[in-house]
Amino acid sequence: AKVKEVDFVKSSNRAKDCPKDGRPEFAMLGRSNVGKSSLINFLVRKKDVALTSKKPGKTQLINHFLINKSWYIVDLPGYGLAFFLIQLTYIYSFANAPESARMDWSSFTKGYFLNRETLVSVLLLVDASVPPQKIDLDCANWLGRNNIPMTFVFTKCDKMKGGKGKRPYENIRDYQELIRENYRHHPPWIMTSTVTGLGRDELLLHMSQLRNY
Ligand code: GTP
Ligand code: MG
Repeated sequence: AKVKEVDFVKSSNRAKDCPKDGRPEFAMLGRSNVGKSSLINFLVRKKDVALTSKKPGKTQLINHFLINKSWYIVDLPGYGLAFFLIQLTYIYSFANAPESARMDWSSFTKGYFLNRETLVSVLLLVDASVPPQKIDLDCANWLGRNNIPMTFVFTKCDKMKGGKGKRPYENIRDYQELIRENYRHHPPWIMTSTVTGLGRDELLLHMSQLRNY
């Protein structure tokens, strides 16, 4: 489960343009700023293979990173922000979306998640430093309904909200309860922190096990 080599392959704005070599891949999905790009850098132990930012909205395209010349990690734009209306936000208010946005949503989401045959699992990133968010649970529901395999990856497990609010452990427990209520099959979940190094080996091992099924 070691990462020896990483190559940025390409950025695509639709599934049709993604690499067609049939290699297995994992897609990073989650709210803007949850830490998708940071998690990629963390896994490959490089600072800026994937571009990150303190401001949400950094990643705008489907970015393919080839690991050890044999499998891909895919960085995606985040959902949950007004200026991402044309993307995953429309999972939730699809019917009300303007026609143009609906078409974009459909080419991005349907095109990628529903038709990407080489997708081994979505890594659904969830911020452990905040209480459960409806948008994340809705996203998980949408993936579940469409039979898209997912792994919950809790990010920012190092973050303690000073005094106020709940701690990551409690937020994760609350998520677990909500997930248990909603799914017959409980998706696997892993805790991570790019600050303390938590979860790196576990996540790499998990991905290698899924690839070898
Ligand atoms: P978009 O590309 O906008 O969708 O965001 P993203 O999900 O790719 O987030 P990104 O990786 O750019 O990280 C956003 C911010 O979260 C950055 O300031 C990171 O340093 C911070 N961050 C990411 N992972 C962690 C973590 O494990 N712990 C802490 N404390 N901060 C983190
Ligand atoms: Mg990003």
